[in-house]
Parts: sequence; structure tokens; C-alpha cells
Amino acid sequence: MKVIICKDYEEMSKKAAETIIAVVKKNPSAVLGLATGSTPIGTYSEMIRDHKENGTSYKGVKTVNLDEYVGLDINSDQSYVYFMRHNLFYGLDIDLANTHIENGKAEDKEAECRKYDELLKTLVQDVQVLGIGSNGHIAFNEPFTPFDSTTHVVDLTENTIKDNSRLFKSIDEVPRQAFTMGLKNIMDAKKILILANGKNKAKAVYGLVKGEVTTEVPASILQKHPDCTLICDEEAAALIK
Ligand code: F6R
Repeated sequence: MKVIICKDYEEMSKKAAETIIAVVKKNPSAVLGLATGSTPIGTYSEMIRDHKENGTSYKGVKTVNLDEYVGLDINSDQSYVYFMRHNLFYGLDIDLANTHIENGKAEDKEAECRKYDELLKTLVQDVQVLGIGSNGHIAFNEPFTPFDSTTHVVDLTENTIKDNSRLFKSIDEVPRQAFTMGLKNIMDAKKILILANGKNKAKAVYGLVKGEVTTEVPASILQKHPDCTLICDEEAAALIK
């Protein structure tokens, strides 16, 4: 795994955006695998700034997102589809029809998972952006998720519900389930970019880079990916230096 340690969040975001923009410039019909959460917001702002200032076009780009809360859709400002539109897509010239995410409102959840897996077979990520949970989760693949998992519905752990509650009015509003790409879907990406900032990620980053490859730390499987880069700030890198 390649590791790039940046002095702060801003530098991390710029470096991450540069990598994604390079992929799009090389292949204007690239497939971008995207993540939500606090970590990539600065990266997405940089992509929007570059689009406006330098004209990088996303007209032919397709996107697949990692995950979505069960029960939420575009009408909920807590849904991930809402997050993606407001933090990235509305700032680019991307065709929203080319942006994909699991349907949080799907009645048949199992069918939705199989449908998403089929989609991922046709849209293989040229680059997959990831954040990391403080317990080492990637997407919503919590500890002990099998490495060969594909798209599935998860019951979120108390730890993740607590972490995510900062984005909701109260902890009771955080959905208890989510759709998520599985670890195999993530490992199938051609290139992986995992971002981490802040001292609460330091332990997870240690497990990602230097720990044993174990389902206890789902991100540790990325050590086996042939083209994975971690871009993090000094605080998140505290235990790997
Ligand atoms: C988001 C996702 C999650 C987050 C992780 C870190 O789509 O899949 O795995 O990347 O929970 O979240 P933040 O960035 O908010 O610390």
C-alpha cells in the first residue's frame, strides 16, 4: 500500500482530488466509486473548484456509491443520494442519470442488493474513494464481515450509530440499517484511494496499514489490493510513523 502523509485536511483533500481528476482526464468516461461522510467533503469541493476553473468535464463519467441508509431517499436530507448531489454532483456537469446508489426505499432489499451487484459488474470502478470508520470499517462493512461479501444489508453497530449521530438531530433518528457494497465489490476496483484525517482515525489507520489482515479490521484487506493508496493527515498517521 502506498502511504501519503499530508500536513492537514486541506492538503489531503487537494492530493485526493488531483488523483481523481487525473483518472477523469485520462479517461473521460471513467467510473468513479464514491463515498459519503465528512472525510471526502474537501476532496469533492476541490473537484468542483477544478471543474469551474479548469473545465474538467464529467459529462461522460459514471459514478457508483458505496452505501445508502435503508428507508431514506432523495427527499431526506440525511440520505446519501442527497449528500452526493449537494456536495458534488450539482457542482459538476455530470448527468445525474449516470450516478448510481442503492435505493434506500427498495421494498425487496435482497433484490436490490443483487441488482446493485449486477450493475457493479458493468461499472467497474476505475478509482474507488473510501473513508474509514474508527473501528476500521469501510463502506458499512463492519468488523467480521466476510472478505468475499458482495452488496448486502447491514445492521449498523452501536459504534457506527454513535459516530454518525453527529449528522442527525438526535441519535434516535439515525437509521439502524444500511445497504452497502461488500468487501469483494470494493476489492474489484482497479484503483483504491482511502482517506483518513483526525486523531480518532489513528488506530484504524494502524490496522489498515500495519495490522494483521483480519476481518476484525475490515480495511486491513486493502493490504492485498494491487493499487491502493492511503492519503491521510499527520494526526491520522500518528501510529504508523
Ligand atoms: C461512507 C462510508 C463510511 C465512511 C466512514 C468514515 O459512504 O462508507 O464507511 O467512509 O464511516 O466516515 P467519516 O468520513 O464521516 O469519518
